[in-house]
Amino acid sequence: MTIGAPFPRQDGVAKVTGAARFAADLEWPGVVEGLLVPTPTGPGRVVELDLAAASRVPGVVRIFKPGELPSIGPLDHWAAGQATVPLMNDQVGHEGQPVALILADDRVAAAAAARLIGIRVEPAPVRVDLETSLQVGEEIQDWAPGRTAVGSVEQGLAEADVMVTARYATADRHHAALEPSVTVADWRGDGLEVVTSTQWVFGVRAALAQAFGLEAERVRVRSVFVGGGFGAKGSVWGHEILAAAAARVIGRPVRIVLPRSQTFTAHGHQPATVQDVTLGARRDGRLTAVRHLGWSAAARTDDYVEHATLGSRTMYACPNIETVDRIVRLDRPQPTFMRAPHEGPGMVGLEIAMDELAQALGLDPVELRIRNHADADPTSGKPFSSKELLACYRLGAERFGWAERPAVTGTRREGGLLVGMGMASALMSTFRFGASARVSLHRDGSVLVESAAHEIGTGVGTILPQIVAEHLGVEPERVRVALADTTLPEAGGTFGSATTMGVGSAVRDAALKLKARLDTLAGEPGLEAREYPDLLALHRLDRVSEEGSWAPRRQDAAWAMNAYGAVFVEVRVDPRFPMPRVTRALGVYSAGRIINPITARSQAIGGMIWGIGQALLEESRVDPNTGRFVAKGFGGYRVPTHADVGAVEALFVPEFDPHASPLGARGVGEIGTIGIGAAVANAVFNATGLRVRRLPVDLIGRRPSS
Ligand code: MOS
Repeated sequence: MTIGAPFPRQDGVAKVTGAARFAADLEWPGVVEGLLVPTPTGPGRVVELDLAAASRVPGVVRIFKPGELPSIGPLDHWAAGQATVPLMNDQVGHEGQPVALILADDRVAAAAAARLIGIRVEPAPVRVDLETSLQVGEEIQDWAPGRTAVGSVEQGLAEADVMVTARYATADRHHAALEPSVTVADWRGDGLEVVTSTQWVFGVRAALAQAFGLEAERVRVRSVFVGGGFGAKGSVWGHEILAAAAARVIGRPVRIVLPRSQTFTAHGHQPATVQDVTLGARRDGRLTAVRHLGWSAAARTDDYVEHATLGSRTMYACPNIETVDRIVRLDRPQPTFMRAPHEGPGMVGLEIAMDELAQALGLDPVELRIRNHADADPTSGKPFSSKELLACYRLGAERFGWAERPAVTGTRREGGLLVGMGMASALMSTFRFGASARVSLHRDGSVLVESAAHEIGTGVGTILPQIVAEHLGVEPERVRVALADTTLPEAGGTFGSATTMGVGSAVRDAALKLKARLDTLAGEPGLEAREYPDLLALHRLDRVSEEGSWAPRRQDAAWAMNAYGAVFVEVRVDPRFPMPRVTRALGVYSAGRIINPITARSQAIGGMIWGIGQALLEESRVDPNTGRFVAKGFGGYRVPTHADVGAVEALFVPEFDPHASPLGARGVGEIGTIGIGAAVANAVFNATGLRVRRLPVDLIGRRPSS
């Protein structure tokens, strides 16, 4: 069970039997349960906060009003999801922002008290809807340039035989992690100890150190099992800071568990986007112009930009490309990264537009994409580190039975249902973060891997033992993993589909060093794992440890790096009740070497199912009067269940990317959720003749054209 083998998920049994412990489950002596109380109305100023009845609830320890906690912030560390910490003053930026923090002996008392608090907010005028507020918007330069141009799109359009241009839209969406965010904060002596459901313990440590003016070494942050992150737990949010602030004031440990409703306002969401895409092409399908203009809904403060046009800069070979990302400031909670940020929403616009172009040209959609395959990055001119996208198209088309796709829209019926097929390309930029790790061999022959990576459900605790097994020759079952603690060797956040490359490579480095050390101790190479205990005994060693590290190299900048996929979908639509259903979906991915086919497939099909949600179900509607996300729970915010997805399958083409990481891997965490949205919309067109340019698909009131 070394690299490439189907080693079963090591935390699977603990999770399905309920043995796995999450932060809300931890026994914590003396802990006070904290509950944030959100404002029920939109932005404005808190003019009245009546705590009298709430304070009398038995078990209530203390209730903090705005301005009563020590002043903190603004936080300028990039780990902070937003700079402003809530509850610092009487200003309310958006509906749902906390205006009180209840501390109680138990969560029931806190919840009872919350219902008795009287809140009056003097309302300010609100502007909440992206599409009605759409104007020029602001271009924000953050990690990705807000504007890209190569060649001249005007020139390219002048040379085009066919042009398509349209506006596309994606909805506000929420992470919907099964485990709502939880933080326990405990001041010990002059230091702070925190357990929090995070994807980035070192990020939380940095933000807390800044918030409280501490040296980072005096803050210990760890996480236990994390029940899904998806970006909601990638940054540091108000509850993490406020738990520590309240704990310091009352001199007792404080735990804040977000109720499900607050997960809709407390840690970001994927903002709605509007995308204008214009494509020009020669009659043979070769693109002459790509223009992608994106707008995303941002908060009044802070600058989260959904770089929806990112993929269009590099997806297809074209001499004339223009992309611009803009934000429109609205009275909304702060948005954030959500699996898969940027290309997840952005490829919806590009890939439906490509389908429209294929239709206009009378070309097969797969063939159109093959003819526009980029052999080098069209924006930077750099070669790709590795790219097997053509193999993805061909294998996917063959396995899916793409040749059976109805050539004319709205013509295939089975059992009274309209049937159609659609496809799309998927692309996700490769992110890589430096990491370090320690690998220790014990005298009993067992091995311990330590690194501050996080098991958020992706399988990191399963693949690291395989990497150790590959290099030390031990059975992976004999490798234990300790993760997610700032006392361990540092790693970047477990996000950006980056962990296998960064942490995996650091573990590989440590394992190789350990193997060399063992060979030295033995006086000769070629020692077998069963001989390790005797070797350590001979040298009177209880354990041998080596530290390893990995970071992107400067010379890697010579390469453009992306994960790719080709996604195929079949839908069925009842013409009398036109709610499309996905009956089959296949994704074929180019993501570098696959360390574990089980966990990689899980990542891919999980992402694809999320993409079906984006296509058909997920939409956080906003109350135009208050900016309130109206659903705030799974009763109204719909995510796919088993009944909503048909046969979903994912394949990976064989590949070794020598530049992305020494393991040959790129990332598999997010590519699966990209492309499905457009593929479903394109399949709906093929089934019904109805062009869909807005997700989730809504055919109510539209009649299939056959
Ligand atoms: Mo993901 S949005 O990189 O956690």
